[in-house]
Amino acid sequence: MCGIVGYIGKRDAYSTLIKGISRIDYRGYDSAGIAVSINGSLETLKCVGAVSTLKKETSKKNACGTVSIGHTRWATHGKPTKANAHPHLSCDGKIAVVHNGIIENHQALRKYLISEGHKFTSETDTEVIPHLIEHLYEGNLEKAVAAALKQLHGTYGIAVIRAGEKKIVAARKGSPLILGIIGKGEYILASDIAAITEYTKKADYLEDGEICVLTDKGYRITDHDDAPHSHIVKTINWSVAAIEKQGFEHYMLKEIHEQPETMRTIIAGKFDFKNKIPKFGGIRITPLDLKNLDRAIILACGTSFNAGLAGEYFLEKTAGLKTEVVYASEFLCKAEKLSSRDLVIAISQSGETADTLAALRKANSDGAHSIGVVNVVGSTIAREVNSGGLYIHVGPEVGVASTKAYTGQLLSLFLFSLWLGRMRGSLKPAEAEAEMKRLTSLPALAEAALKNEKKIIAIASKFKNATNFMYLGRGIHYATSLEGALKLKEISYIHAEGMPAAEMKHGPIALIDKKMPVVFAVKRDDGYEKIIGNIEEVKARKGIVIAIAEESDKEIHKKADYVIRVPDSTQELSSMLFAIPLQLLAYHIARFRKCEIDKPRNLAKSVTV
Ligand code: M6R
Repeated sequence: MCGIVGYIGKRDAYSTLIKGISRIDYRGYDSAGIAVSINGSLETLKCVGAVSTLKKETSKKNACGTVSIGHTRWATHGKPTKANAHPHLSCDGKIAVVHNGIIENHQALRKYLISEGHKFTSETDTEVIPHLIEHLYEGNLEKAVAAALKQLHGTYGIAVIRAGEKKIVAARKGSPLILGIIGKGEYILASDIAAITEYTKKADYLEDGEICVLTDKGYRITDHDDAPHSHIVKTINWSVAAIEKQGFEHYMLKEIHEQPETMRTIIAGKFDFKNKIPKFGGIRITPLDLKNLDRAIILACGTSFNAGLAGEYFLEKTAGLKTEVVYASEFLCKAEKLSSRDLVIAISQSGETADTLAALRKANSDGAHSIGVVNVVGSTIAREVNSGGLYIHVGPEVGVASTKAYTGQLLSLFLFSLWLGRMRGSLKPAEAEAEMKRLTSLPALAEAALKNEKKIIAIASKFKNATNFMYLGRGIHYATSLEGALKLKEISYIHAEGMPAAEMKHGPIALIDKKMPVVFAVKRDDGYEKIIGNIEEVKARKGIVIAIAEESDKEIHKKADYVIRVPDSTQELSSMLFAIPLQLLAYHIARFRKCEIDKPRNLAKSVTV
């Protein structure tokens, strides 16, 4: 949830660090801090608010430190105050620690350390770490860190420096840490590759249980007992341009507009045009095991969960596989044990979401096949699935509200269903080929859907002061309605509920009055008459109807107060196309309300705690 950066090398540590943490402040932005080792002591700067505030402070500093760590915080233990901001220090001020994760036994450790004479200055769980390291320090920082880690319960990605020592000691358990190799003796360490990519394309991903010591001579990775680990250095393929706004006012808007392009990339990468079947070389399940599967279980949170609901529809219809979608956080509450006839699909943009990871680990230990549908290459979920998976490859998503990852997940899941349908024999070659042919038109259809932005802005301006919204859809568009509502509430702070259209009658209809905008996803399909019936029900109670409807629907304007058009398409493609106007509607309402669109209050991009 928080962002960590560490730098060792010859550049000015202040500016390098600030640049690094600015790149990942979507991981948390309620306070920030930095510690730099200068002339045998540590200089620490902290502030409440985003990294930009810290930047103003550091610009007054003379550039001289070359070993440093920094942090951008999303509060878990203790309010966002200067005292609770990281780095946290030992009593003698010589050891500084930045941390992402939660130390579960912090209360017991704090009590013990206080009894040993340590003085605490914050309310955080993290502060036990520098005190514990100080307590165990006998002249070797990495040894003291290793000894301290053995006493910590919970999750952590940490970076530690000590005054007068030209090194950074880093360790991870359950929170990501990536080492960017700029050159021999020059490294940038971060919890996210966005902080690294501008300095180097060479990355070494730390594993849980590892400690990494970076010095100006080189780096070494070991376990907690100092046994060396060897790694293969990977290449990062995200460009700096991909993590910049490129003229858009917000990342979210840029990412919405990138969708035709991300769709093209997915289609180009996952189509085997010669054999007329999608290709998924990263999935390691034998054809026999695929045939023997009894069901798929999709595990995910937030937007990825909503994508999973559409995935259920794809898998059941196209691959003939019974599918359940479970909130990852709820999966651990289930008594049922999975087996090798179950296929678990963990969907996660970041690949780091703690609930999804915990659910995946349980599924793995039950013996289910597990695959990932992930965006961030090399992320923990991508590495811990036992049967490979697929990357959606939509590039870095910086806006906290997920947009291009959602449509990328849907498209990848649909292609995966086609592939699985062919592998299991439930889909005929000609059917798969016809679907793939239709899919090639998707990017152009998405471009057309984006062209209606002006109309959406006008509607957004009318409803910018609404206090409640309802989103309704049937079948695959139940997912659309949940996603539309989630987008609106997270960035505009307007209360919104998404639900299956028919469910409205079973209670929520009581909320309808002349102030309530109800957004309908109106697809011309078997359920069309029913959706029109639901619209009539809303109108009869004086509700305001905003319909997302297809170009060919010549009736809808007689029923709805406002109509936003999307191009005609199949049921499957419409799941992606209908999402686009809802993303734009949420964006423009939030913009009119002057909300912090890319960094909504209380949120962070990936929930790793
Ligand atoms: O990285 P993940 O896809 O696992 O993240 C899951 C959710 O935290 C995420 O989708 C969240 O709901 C977004 N803010 C939605 O826009």
